[in-house]
Amino acid sequence: KTNKVIAIDGYSSCGKSTLAKALAKKLHYLYIDSGAMYRAVTLYFIRNVVPIADQAKIADALSAIHIDFHTDAGQTRILLNEEDVSEEIRQMYISDYVSEVSAIRAVRLAMVDQQQRMGSNQNIVMDGRDIGTTVFPDADLKIFMTADPKVRAERRYLELKNKGEDITLEEVFENLAHRDYIDTTREESPLVRADDAIILDNTNLNEEEQLQFVLDRL
Ligand code: C5P
Repeated sequence: KTNKVIAIDGYSSCGKSTLAKALAKKLHYLYIDSGAMYRAVTLYFIRNVVPIADQAKIADALSAIHIDFHTDAGQTRILLNEEDVSEEIRQMYISDYVSEVSAIRAVRLAMVDQQQRMGSNQNIVMDGRDIGTTVFPDADLKIFMTADPKVRAERRYLELKNKGEDITLEEVFENLAHRDYIDTTREESPLVRADDAIILDNTNLNEEEQLQFVLDRL
């Protein structure tokens, strides 16, 4: 492999994507948000009423799902069958269901396959839950992010509030705890720190300090 891969994993709302984007910009790597892919699949499952226990319907759905990323005015957009769903997938009704859909083996196999292809011939920063363990076990650098759960919930709450979502801090806190629970306990590639991943606790670090932390380890 001649291209470089930086894998960033960790709990929900630890600021993985903020850091990954900053790194990609600094290093001129491509940023790939693997969570957005699982969110897009979840949106498709909800719209098309795909039951999460029906293997045949799941297989049909997966063969009908086409996910693409493209850059528009410096911003990465995600397309689900040509439709830009970048905003839609951030809504709370997706966050409430995404971990259930992400625990399905067939869903993971399909996403991991696409992720590996995207990272096979270009320099990338990819963030998610299983990037350093399953998708790119040979990544050049692995970061495992964590932060105080209360701090994470507050950050995400402010972000959603600013977007006009009608939610409470408690709902956000519960959603993060729920997702972390499912993500760490599922059978298929659960969220776990890879042995060779460097832990980054950003409870008390600003964005610049986090970027520097990673650059120092490259
Ligand atoms: O990264 P984000 O919080 O948007 O991811 C949403 C959900 O997608 C996670 O809570 C997790 O259930 C799932 N996910 C995953 N594996 C990844 C990325 C995300 O299972 N690599």
